[in-house]
Amino acid sequence: MRTKPASVIAIYPGSFDPITNGHLDLIERGSALFDKLIVAILRNEEKQALFSVEERTEMLNEVVRCFPNVAVASFDGLLVDYAADRGASVLLRGIRAVSDYEYELQMALMNRRLRPEIETVFLMAGEAHSFISSRLVKEVIGLGGNISGLVPPFVEGRLRKRLLGEPSY
Ligand code: PNS
Repeated sequence: MRTKPASVIAIYPGSFDPITNGHLDLIERGSALFDKLIVAILRNEEKQALFSVEERTEMLNEVVRCFPNVAVASFDGLLVDYAADRGASVLLRGIRAVSDYEYELQMALMNRRLRPEIETVFLMAGEAHSFISSRLVKEVIGLGGNISGLVPPFVEGRLRKRLLGEPSY
């Protein structure tokens, strides 16, 4: 029989390239559910990212400052091994739409097969955030569209600088 650990540590993994208000919503809700939440950025050299892991870490640190039980880290290798190393018993993931479900189910079942003692917990994205993705935000701002309210304001500034060459403010 499994018992509840004295302190429940959850890992919220992802690319976060860059963080959106959808991620932030999940971080806020996750921080209220678990004793400690580690937002873990995947270090994946193969995936072409707009921001380096260091830049993404800096942006995440900026937005999680107000949550005392949230930390930012990065990892490579298997997520479940990283979670076990950090003493975590939960993987936190968000689901926006049915289209997310298949991929998330596959990952959750594979992760359970690898380490059954680690549970994946899904939170449904808030309705205001269910259409936001880092990929779409980058595409829209790169084509001159308005993304205000979809990412934290200073992240919008970083995006404008990187994609449109605007000076930082
Ligand atoms: O936000 P993303 O990019 O959809 O996050 C994907 C992530 C980081 C959760 C996934 O790619 C992952 O866990 N990668 C680590 C390698 C691993 O454990 N792969 C097996 C997953 S079943």
